[in-house]
Amino acid sequence: MTDAPKPPKQKPWSDIDLNRWREYEEIKTDSLWLYDSRASGDGHKLDYHGNYIPQIATQIFTRYSQTDDIILDLFLGSGTSAIEAMRLKRRCIGVELKPDLVEYVQGKIEPDLLDSRIHLLHGNIANPEIVAQISDLLQTMQANFAHLLILHPPYGDIIKFSDHADDLSNAATPETFLDGFETVARHGYKLLAPGRFAALIIGDKYAKGELIPLGFQCMERMNRVGFKTKAIIVKNIEGNEKGKGKSANLWRYRALAGGYYIFKHEYIIVFFKPK
Ligand SMILES: C[S@@+](CC[C@H](N)C(=O)[O-])C[C@H]1O[C@@H](n2cnc3c(N)ncnc32)[C@H](O)[C@@H]1O
Repeated sequence: MTDAPKPPKQKPWSDIDLNRWREYEEIKTDSLWLYDSRASGDGHKLDYHGNYIPQIATQIFTRYSQTDDIILDLFLGSGTSAIEAMRLKRRCIGVELKPDLVEYVQGKIEPDLLDSRIHLLHGNIANPEIVAQISDLLQTMQANFAHLLILHPPYGDIIKFSDHADDLSNAATPETFLDGFETVARHGYKLLAPGRFAALIIGDKYAKGELIPLGFQCMERMNRVGFKTKAIIVKNIEGNEKGKGKSANLWRYRALAGGYYIFKHEYIIVFFKPK
């Protein structure tokens, strides 16, 4: 007679069966993530300057959400989170400032899932009206809160996403960028279920010869609104986009001449909302 299979041993925020922990070889538990290239296929492509690699969504969604959970992405961009949510059988609410981009992402979603399991909203996420709209939407999805929060804001002004005054990449100063980000973080905190997780994806920048540690500054703003930090992951950025080719030498010269180091990493900072 064979033993009856053990019931799964799971945390309420993940489908990972801890009885089978040795089998999850693809799940990262180290704080240094190195990817040679961006995953493509399954609806993912490099069609938006500044989108994140799908592997970030795969790792974070698998560790910090369950099937059918609602992933809330407040800077949806080209929809990487929505596509990965669809693939991993999660639900998703995504917010993006640019209406044409929202329309474009709608075209990537399976029609029967759009507006039932995957919801795409257009608007300024710093605006309280959008927060009320998300709360209402959560109710229609039979939930009081989202189950996982994703924040992939502009990295200050290093990529200008639009001419829109509400676009965080157009913030007049680093301080107004951080204040704007803090407002969004506060909105995210309100919408996330207690005991659940948030992931911030962000890189640093240089301005006038000085390193501006946007990653740590945004982490501090997340802490100010109540999030507790769980992990700081450093990820290489080589795989994000096609190689910079000839300009690499120019950057190397500039780095040597200016006394600085060329960014090869960004951060994925994981937080939780205390119960
Ligand atoms: C770094 S990108 C996100 C990319 C996304 N993770 C993806 O994979 O495509 C940041 C996005 O935030 C949007 N954004 C900037 N300010 C915003 C605001 N106030 N409200 C909503 N979206 C905003 C920009 O238009 C841009 O598409």
